[in-house]
Amino acid sequence: MDILVVGTGYVGLVTGTCFATMGHHVTCLDINKEKIAKLLKGEIPIYEPGLEELVKRNVQQGRLHFTTDYAIGVKSALVCFIAVPTPSREDGSCDTSYVEAAARQIAAHLDGYRVIVNKSTVPVGTAYRVAEVIREELAGREIPFDVVSNPEFLKEGSAVQDCLKPDRIIIGADNARAADILKELYSAFTLSHDRILTMDILSAEMTKYAANAMLALRISFMNEIASICKLVGANVNEVRKGIGSDQRIGYSFLYAGAGYGGSCFPKDVQALREMAKKAGADPLLLEATEEVNRRQKKVLAANMIQYFSKRGGLKGKTVAVWGLAFKPDTDDVREAPALSFIEDLIAQGASVRVFDPVAIPNAQKILGHMPNILWCKDEFEAASGADAIALLTEWKQFRFIDFQPIQEQMKGIAFFDGRNQYKPLEMKKRGFDYISIGIPDQLQKVSS
Ligand SMILES: NC(=O)c1ccc[n+]([C@@H]2O[C@H](COP(=O)([O-])OP(=O)(O)OC[C@H]3O[C@@H](n4cnc5c(N)ncnc54)[C@H](O)[C@@H]3O)[C@@H](O)[C@H]2O)c1
Repeated sequence: MDILVVGTGYVGLVTGTCFATMGHHVTCLDINKEKIAKLLKGEIPIYEPGLEELVKRNVQQGRLHFTTDYAIGVKSALVCFIAVPTPSREDGSCDTSYVEAAARQIAAHLDGYRVIVNKSTVPVGTAYRVAEVIREELAGREIPFDVVSNPEFLKEGSAVQDCLKPDRIIIGADNARAADILKELYSAFTLSHDRILTMDILSAEMTKYAANAMLALRISFMNEIASICKLVGANVNEVRKGIGSDQRIGYSFLYAGAGYGGSCFPKDVQALREMAKKAGADPLLLEATEEVNRRQKKVLAANMIQYFSKRGGLKGKTVAVWGLAFKPDTDDVREAPALSFIEDLIAQGASVRVFDPVAIPNAQKILGHMPNILWCKDEFEAASGADAIALLTEWKQFRFIDFQPIQEQMKGIAFFDGRNQYKPLEMKKRGFDYISIGIPDQLQKVSS
């Protein structure tokens, strides 16, 4: 099948490449000329494990093309996916203007029946708005089309695998012709067993928000439990295992940490909250989820301020920051807890030495103007001369680290673990003042 994917970001480039991997002919389109120029030269503009190899193979075999030209993209495609940003407006509601702009551009080049598929995460009812925009642009031209909702559930860091082996594919359609075309398109992904759920458009759009809000809620719930654990003397790591073993709860998304970030959870929870309010609902849980997360993003810096308050304050201190991406295996730093943490430290007069295996270029775009940040080539360089280390992203390479050479280069002995990656007793034995999330008495036990 011939497919157009509009928007070559984390979602568009990955899904387009995976469709090509399954034998479809795919054109990936973006208005960002620089991005398309890079892709045409074989350079991959984002970091996503396994993506580069697949892009190169599909380009070589003639199934994957890149363009900035809607006329070329729409010409032969039966299915046109829209995978463009849906950022937050100032009030938190979802800005669908990029989706509408893409729909208008597709409509301008329609010359026969197409299925226009909304893959971007959008408020309930957006598919109808997209259809309206297309009709406006067609201005009376009698060209048939359908708009379908097909929300995306891939996770950055494992996007290729998620896309090739999806848990489920949601198709929201209000007519059988469009639904059948999408089912055929996806059939190659579900050969082992059927994982396609077809439903009405509004429910499909709502499913995506509900899924992300549920995951964000679990994170905030565990962070709240962690704060209580610390106060009452319980260990959140043990509690996590204790509740995760209940099959009704499960182990996923039960990690206490420095708060959730990324391009989806924060904006989608806000967008759902605003959509709910507009519809007349009172979204208490969504508001609490956000508020807990806002607080949680401050916890690590607050722990550090408290620790150094007995050691002359943070002013003039040097902190090594390990990890910038909002989670491992991605270069995405949008809403990453590491960024606000660094800003908080610098506001306190500290200097930071930062390292991330892949996210430094993206972080520099946001923090590059700030003073007192040194961008380091590895975790060892970052720790050199540091009074403390703070772990913000749980990259695997930080798991089994030889701490001895690191400690030899450090000035201080504090380790703030924002992802509960290490065993408190082992870290203490190594000579660290080890402070993690939701483990009691850390601050009292450390040397003074
Ligand atoms: N990133 C994720 O993990 C993820 C997962 C599921 C769903 N989503 C949703 O998918 C959508 C896209 O997210 P993303 O992370 O891929 O975004 P992104 O910012 O990585 O990429 C979007 C791309 O769209 C391009 N674009 C913008 N307007 C355009 C237009 N009119 N025509 C052509 N290209 C245009 C941009 O230049 C950019 O390259 C969002 O709605 C997001 O919420 C994202």
